[in-house]
Amino acid sequence: MQEPAPDQHPAITGAVELLLGSGGKRLRPALVFLSARLCGADPDVALFAAAGVEMLHTATLVHDDLIDGSLMRRGAETLNARWSPAATVLTGDYLFARAAYWVARTENTRLVQRFAETLMVICNGEIRQMFDGRGKVPSFQEYEQRIYAKTASLIALSAESGAILAHTDEATIAAMRTYGERLGLAFQVVDDVLDFVADERTLGKPVGSDLRQGLVTLPVMLFLEQSGDHPALHRILHQGSSDPTVQEAVRAIAASPAIERSLQIARDYIREAKEALQPFPPSEYRAALLDLADFVVRRQF
Ligand code: IPE
Ligand code: IPE
Ligand code: MG
Ligand code: MG
Repeated sequence: MQEPAPDQHPAITGAVELLLGSGGKRLRPALVFLSARLCGADPDVALFAAAGVEMLHTATLVHDDLIDGSLMRRGAETLNARWSPAATVLTGDYLFARAAYWVARTENTRLVQRFAETLMVICNGEIRQMFDGRGKVPSFQEYEQRIYAKTASLIALSAESGAILAHTDEATIAAMRTYGERLGLAFQVVDDVLDFVADERTLGKPVGSDLRQGLVTLPVMLFLEQSGDHPALHRILHQGSSDPTVQEAVRAIAASPAIERSLQIARDYIREAKEALQPFPPSEYRAALLDLADFVVRRQF
């Protein structure tokens, strides 16, 4: 693919190489390609959309790690671990622009519009989490709204983009979107579970980071529902976190039934995602999307 920028500072080139070179699962571009194949879109045009969603995702991670003060991502040092906040923010902005460039190359106005709307949903969700979310136990509905905004919205966009590019009927676009949205909700529930139970080296990013920031996710909500309270959790939510209290709370939650109950909720979302694909006739692309749904709840990283 032709590169967008004729003049790019070596620091940006280095950052892009570091971020994209360290991998990541590339779930979102995989969804774009499979959705494009399933719905009959031009694969060359789908490539632009796939590059766009992965770049958008990467840009959100750059800003997310800065906001969270996270020092590791995809097994490598984050940009904010090495650079000033100003340089990190600007590099994130650059990546957002680059994402927009790729999506614009599809020359599909509807997709460009959906892309912009999704970024608004993500930013709004992050602001809500920042101002209203810390140290508070959300209702299940608030939690679902939060994980939709931060994660499922972009995964839904990835899944529907093939249908949008193929100019299918509205019911097909809606079915692909529902598949992506349910998959995305499951994906974030599993991410929230992995924050308690994963091996840090396999995960490639710090564990326990949600509680360290006072962010109450589904495993904590279900734990509190069952046990009423816990001294370490109480301290984190009411007095702020310290490393030993976070470790103690993480251990208690990781060993509790809240983990399995959270995974059961993720599996329920996955069942709904698969159901959304029922109208499509059997094909290797539909089968791959069904497999991908199973992967989301089985993954260890
Ligand atoms: C991490 O996304 C951020 C979340 C939405 C949970 P991924 O788990 O898809 O990150 P990479 O791209 O594979 O590193
Ligand atoms: C990140 O969610 C979602 C966005 C980047 C918008 P998390 O904060 O759970 O992601 P990780 O765990 O840092 O990857
Ligand atoms: Mg984070
Ligand atoms: Mg997380």
